[in-house]
Amino acid sequence: MKIRILSAADVNAALSMRDAIQVMRTAFGQFSAGKAVVPLRSGLHTEKGVTLLMPAYLQESRDLAIKIVSVYGKNPEIGLPTVTAIVTVLDPDTGMPVAFMDGQSLTALRTGAAGGLAADLLSRKDARRVVLFGAGVQGRSQLRAAMTVRPVEKVFVVDHNQGRAKDLAGEIRTWPRAPEVTVPSSIRDAVHAADIVLAATTSTTPIFDGNDLEPGAHVTGVGAFTPDMQEIDENTVRRARVIVDSREACLAEAGDIIKSRAHIDAELGDIVNGQSPGRQNQEEITFFKSVGLAAQDAAAASAVLAGAEIKGLGTVAEMA
Ligand SMILES: NC(=O)c1ccc[n+]([C@@H]2O[C@H](COP(=O)([O-])OP(=O)(O)OC[C@H]3O[C@@H](n4cnc5c(N)ncnc54)[C@H](O)[C@@H]3O)[C@@H](O)[C@H]2O)c1
Repeated sequence: MKIRILSAADVNAALSMRDAIQVMRTAFGQFSAGKAVVPLRSGLHTEKGVTLLMPAYLQESRDLAIKIVSVYGKNPEIGLPTVTAIVTVLDPDTGMPVAFMDGQSLTALRTGAAGGLAADLLSRKDARRVVLFGAGVQGRSQLRAAMTVRPVEKVFVVDHNQGRAKDLAGEIRTWPRAPEVTVPSSIRDAVHAADIVLAATTSTTPIFDGNDLEPGAHVTGVGAFTPDMQEIDENTVRRARVIVDSREACLAEAGDIIKSRAHIDAELGDIVNGQSPGRQNQEEITFFKSVGLAAQDAAAASAVLAGAEIKGLGTVAEMA
């Protein structure tokens, strides 16, 4: 049995953001059409943390994978990340493992790509100004994805850790086709100016006032993953057409949706499948809420493996 082992660098080299967004299109489409087998994730608790098992199978594209995510809060004390993850890809015909890959880079890629798909379906075609909240791993990926689908010219980076915001601003300036970047002194003015607002923070309370959004703005929120956490406020939810990755998951887990008693208009996959419209006019405010689906991991992992095979990336180990 041969297994391809892919590092974070291999994952990033195997699949471009543009291709990852296309992969998310088919993943969300299948998910909302009931063509994804996604058992409830199981959690294995120990004295020091929890390990989550997230399996999924997409019936049309035949992507089969399991993500194993550990959240161990004391890891930073010994110089290790709190969250670590690995994804195993299985052959859908035999069930045999065919690849192991870094799960953190895959998660960032697929979460960014979901935001990119939402921006493509929901933001104005001429969206040029972006406010990014959260200068972390997911924030970077959200911004790269938005820049892939829209002609972004101006970016405001907001983080309650000013140093991180400044560091990311400096980093973005080195990207190819870099937009103009500033760390704004007024969040209100930045939100006011934004065509797209990206929220990728660990905040437990709302990070901006939705009354400051201009008509036509699009908001994506990927933080706030428990019922008690809230990143996007009630004003945004009240003014926006609300789209989610999964109705069931968001109603169970997303404080942004639960606390505001949001009316969910559609799943992203319903728009992909033509069951619900994308952006309807220039004035509509839209809000896409993501908690993250195992179906995204399976689809992205298969596509990464296919890209890695073509490009000869990673190490192939003979297991037996
Ligand atoms: N939806 C998904 O599929 C998905 C997938 C992975 C991670 N996430 C979530 O995305 C969020 C970000 O993850 P990450 O890995 O980038 O974390 P990170 O720690 O790398 O970055 C988060 C950033 O948010 C900043 N922040 C916290 N509160 C803030 C506030 N009120 N205003 C501005 N900035 C603030 C922090 O200073 C930090 O720089 C987490 O909540 C994580 O659980 C979602």
